[in-house]
Amino acid sequence: MRHKQSEVLFGRAMDVLVEGCSSASRGPMNYNPFPPYIREGRGSRVWDVDGNEYIDWQLSFGCLPMGHAHPKIVEVIQREVAGGTHFATALEVEVETAELMVSMLPHVDKVRFANTGTEACMTGVRMARGITGKRKILKFEGHYHGWYDGLLVSSNPQYVTSLGHPNDPVRIPDSSGLTPGSWEDTLVCVWNNVEALERVLRSHGHEIACIVMEGVMSNMGVIPPNPGYLKAVEALCREFEVLFYLDETVTGFRVAPGGVAELYGLKPDIVTYGKALGQGFPIAAIAGPNHIMESIEYGKVLHYGSHNAPRLGLFATKTMLEEMSRGNYAGYKKISEIGDQMTKRLNQAATDTGQNMRVQNIGSMFHPVFTDLDAITNYRDFCQTVNLAKYADFSQKMRDQGVFFSGNKILHNLSCTEHTQADIDTTIEAAGNALEQMSDNERI
Ligand SMILES: Cc1ncc(COP(=O)(O)O)c(C=O)c1O
Repeated sequence: MRHKQSEVLFGRAMDVLVEGCSSASRGPMNYNPFPPYIREGRGSRVWDVDGNEYIDWQLSFGCLPMGHAHPKIVEVIQREVAGGTHFATALEVEVETAELMVSMLPHVDKVRFANTGTEACMTGVRMARGITGKRKILKFEGHYHGWYDGLLVSSNPQYVTSLGHPNDPVRIPDSSGLTPGSWEDTLVCVWNNVEALERVLRSHGHEIACIVMEGVMSNMGVIPPNPGYLKAVEALCREFEVLFYLDETVTGFRVAPGGVAELYGLKPDIVTYGKALGQGFPIAAIAGPNHIMESIEYGKVLHYGSHNAPRLGLFATKTMLEEMSRGNYAGYKKISEIGDQMTKRLNQAATDTGQNMRVQNIGSMFHPVFTDLDAITNYRDFCQTVNLAKYADFSQKMRDQGVFFSGNKILHNLSCTEHTQADIDTTIEAAGNALEQMSDNERI
């Protein structure tokens, strides 16, 4: 593969863009020595500026359930752009999109549109504090909810020696520039462990506004909840009068039409959506039952935004929801089946080549990790046993064969409706080659 044009662009980019890009995970942190600059995408494929073609499994970190430039999305955007991009007024398409969402989410009465998952999560936390009058929130190690100060605690992989005792995890700020106040009110608990959560709630329940969590860990590979865990968390929230805030930025409108809440039979108080919802446009949402959502009426708990509910993005969202729901939600079934097949066959490729790669998934979200454990069930196992350098090597070897696996070592890969059986077969063959090429001392 040639990368001359990407190399030239990277040189120019470094003069005018921090890290040559606009978010750390897109730049040299994950692509050594420079990233491929992508020029266009169609269906399951993307092409870089040098003309290299890739089967794309990174898919904008989950923003594209229908793949790139889907004809239905192109059609609606081409039609509607002539009518104006954004008015910052109330819109018919806003009502129609919200109606569709509410019809798919039995636990939700109302939605409020935002632009990004981070904004939605900021609002969710503020709502929880406003409603309960309590200041603290509780999050979990390894869960990421965007880059709002109060949520930037213990989200990244760390040396296991810095994590502290599981009964009292060390709260590790994820950034410089945070005031002590922003994270002092953020308690941290280990995930997938009912007893640990109950212990924290017994001591601190009276001062905790909400428990915020990813229903499936999506920012540390893919770590599913233990059987019964999410239901137990919900019951503990009720017992200790703490709001149950499920962050479905990744899982919403992806793992099932009703997200993790549907998959595990949950009734969260606050839910946030993003990523898949916009089908590539920056659309996010805060949602919940009436008695919760009324908290943001007339700015009681403030949520504003010039760009909220952008017209074109809403047309894309509405079209995506309609298309994915056709034929009794066939789109959701299709992406899940592809994810299941990828998981099974990648695991087989690892066994066949003697590499210690394990792939975990929930439907369309899957991720290979290199570990000697049979399964990763929590953040601490991830930190202690997962070899991130091996994943970087593997994903580079995949890209060298025209298969785009997530460049970010901890962020998962995904399927879309446009992936074909041939895409899967080609990817599995490439994975076999990549695993075979990985040096003998990297084998089990
Ligand atoms: C669970 C979760 N919540 C919130 C966010 C933040 O979303 P955004 O990147 O749109 O701000 C992310 C992003 O990866 C996420 O994974």
